[in-house]
Order: sequence, then C-alpha cells, then structure tokens
Amino acid sequence: MTKKTAVIKVRDLVVGFGDENVLDHLDLDVRAAEILGVVGASGAGKSVLLRTIIGLLPRRHGTIEVLGIDLADAGEEERRALERRWGVLFQQGALFSSLTVRQNVQFPMRENLDISQRLMDEMALAKLEMVGLAPQDLDKFPSELSGGMTKRVALARALALDPEILFLDEPTSGLDPISAGDFDELIRTLQQTLEITVFMVTHDLESLYTACDRIAVLADGKVVADGPIATMLESEHPWVKTYFQGKRGGMLAERQISA
Ligand SMILES: Nc1ncnc2c1ncn2[C@@H]1O[C@H](COP(=O)(O)OP(=O)(O)OP(=O)(O)O)[C@@H](O)[C@H]1O
Ligand SMILES: [Mg+2]
Repeated sequence: MTKKTAVIKVRDLVVGFGDENVLDHLDLDVRAAEILGVVGASGAGKSVLLRTIIGLLPRRHGTIEVLGIDLADAGEEERRALERRWGVLFQQGALFSSLTVRQNVQFPMRENLDISQRLMDEMALAKLEMVGLAPQDLDKFPSELSGGMTKRVALARALALDPEILFLDEPTSGLDPISAGDFDELIRTLQQTLEITVFMVTHDLESLYTACDRIAVLADGKVVADGPIATMLESEHPWVKTYFQGKRGGMLAERQISA
C-alpha cells in the first residue's frame, strides 16, 4: 500500500440522536500508515465519529469504508474478520477491573484466536514489552496501576491481534505532560515500526505537534479543516484559529519554528 491509499473513507456521513444530528454530511479520509489527529470542541462528535466508524453506532446516512469494506454491507463473518484488523483504545473504561494485566491483554486473543495458553503468554509478554512495561506487571490488577501504566496496558490490548489500524480516543488525557510525551513517542515508534494507521482523537496540542502527520478538525458536524500543523496555523476558521493560534497553541508554534 502506498502512503496515499485511504484505509478509511467516510462519505456524507450523518449520525444523530433524537432530533439532533451530531455529524452532518461529514467526509473524511484516513491514509495508510499516517497518524491522523482528530480535534474539536468537547461534544463536537469526535467519539461519536470513532464509534460509528467501528460500527458501534448506527448512521442515518452515508458510507464508511474501512480497508475497502463497508460494515453496512458486510455479513457477520466478514464483520468479525474486519474487527480483528483494528485495535481500539476507548476514552472511558480502558480495562476490565476484575482481570489481571495478562488476562486483559489476552482477552482479544481468547475471543478471536484458537491458540494455546503458552503461546498467548508469549504474545502477551511481547505486547507488554512493546508498550514499555515489565514482565512483573503481567499479574497486576488494574487498580494497582498508575494512569500512564493503565493507558499502556490498554494499548497493549489494542495491539493484541496485530492490527492494521489503531483507534485511540484521548490516549493521553489524565497523564502528566512527561508521561503524555512518552506515550506520544510510543505511538510514533509503533506506527513507524509496525506501519499501523492511527486514528487519534485528542485534546492534547503537544500530541498534535509531535505525533500527528495530519489533523482533522471537527466542527458543526463536519471536518472544517484538515492538513498538517502548517495548514492549521493558516486557517481562518474561528475555532481553528482560537485553538491553534491562541495562547497555548501560539507558544507551541513558536517553539516548533525556533527548533
Ligand atoms: N449514545 C448517545 N446517545 C445520545 N447522545 C449521544 C450519545 N453519544 C454521544 N451523544 C451526544 O453526541 C454529541 C457528541 O458527543 P461525543 O462524545 O462524540 O463528543 P466528543 O467530541 O468526543 O467530546 P469530548 O471531547 O468531550 O470527548 C454530544 O452532544 C453527546 O451528548
Ligand atoms: Mg470524546
């Protein structure tokens, strides 16, 4: 696959609840092996978009192709096969609290693969190392982990089936800036070594500067701006202007230019 191929193609998407449409004729492409940052005000519909793309929310109109398949046309088997090709880190409820780290990471394996416990143990260990955790963390429960470790375990679980696409909803929220920076670097490294396509919802300006290849801004139910940081800094859209050229955004932009 070349860099330009769209692995996710959203066209004319309408999603709503009751009388209101949260997404209103939205178009979006996510290209192979890129890290796309999705931003927008709280309530703009970022999580709704993510959940609709992976088939957890119904749409009122439009098409969504992921890896060439539209879930709306897919049968049960095709759907399950497609679901195995992506990993998700949700905004809330990252881990099963009654399961250990090992069991959490092995959960998708148990659901989808017919392999021995020994092989699953080896795979869980490999995933844990991939996200920068130690073997002794395998037998901890979620309540024994820090926020940053929890995010890493959730990421290890999202990577359990060697996905082609990674969906991340606010992966660095709640982390201190250094842990968040480490996490961004980890995503970047994983994307480069595994050539995964990453769809990342984030509020974190730092992530947008350091981790993302391209940014899509959600407002009024649509993608109102998309492109690299440079495009965001030139945008005339009021929300984009305030967000990227406001006090915090401006500081980061200056740092980027002087670096
Ligand atoms: N299951 C649901 N039923 C009804 N309304 C919903 C549902 N899920 C989301 N909404 C509404 O859709 C809108 C968009 O929600 P969404 O969670 O996508 O926002 P968001 O952009 O992810 O915000 P945040 O940055 O705060 O996470 C909100 O008005 C929310 O109340
Ligand atoms: Mg959200």
